[in-house]
Amino acid sequence: MPEQPDDDRRTFLRIAVIGGIGILTAGAGAASVFLPPKTGQSAGGGPQPLIPMARLAALLKEEVLSLEISLSVRDGWRLRTKRQRVYLQRVADTDDAAAFKALSPVCSHAGCTIEYHEKEKQFHCPCHGAKFKQDGSLEKGPAPRDMDPLEVTVADHDGASWLFVNWQEFVMGTEQRTPRGNA
Ligand code: FES
Repeated sequence: MPEQPDDDRRTFLRIAVIGGIGILTAGAGAASVFLPPKTGQSAGGGPQPLIPMARLAALLKEEVLSLEISLSVRDGWRLRTKRQRVYLQRVADTDDAAAFKALSPVCSHAGCTIEYHEKEKQFHCPCHGAKFKQDGSLEKGPAPRDMDPLEVTVADHDGASWLFVNWQEFVMGTEQRTPRGNA
């Protein structure tokens, strides 16, 4: 059953990291990922929290790692917890932020959760069949654009170098990538 998009346009996302991070799926090497011992901290000082995702040593080239974060989402007066997948990749051998890529799984067509197919090394959207290459570039619509990249940062955390991700949602249905307001 595909995950359905949150179509309540009045939903106002006020995002805070509140929960642990768990492995969903990944290529070989997933078992070597160390989960963060604590969450809920902001490493970047920006308006949104930078989330510690994985030790750099756990990210290997040619692999897509799928991790899950828990977000606290304010929906009107209601505060609810939302689990959100994030795809991580190492694209170079260095250990600076440019060597890593994080992709949002939210499909830009209508918001379904894009899934990674390890065998084909492709991303597929289960709702209307959009396909993306392993680097997130659009291969087949109806999604109007490539998968949305998330800002990444490398910083020390718990005695090691970690990849941090800035979670962001984007406006759907447009070729142009526009961040949704996260106040
Ligand atoms: Fe992904 Fe429609 S929501 S193709």
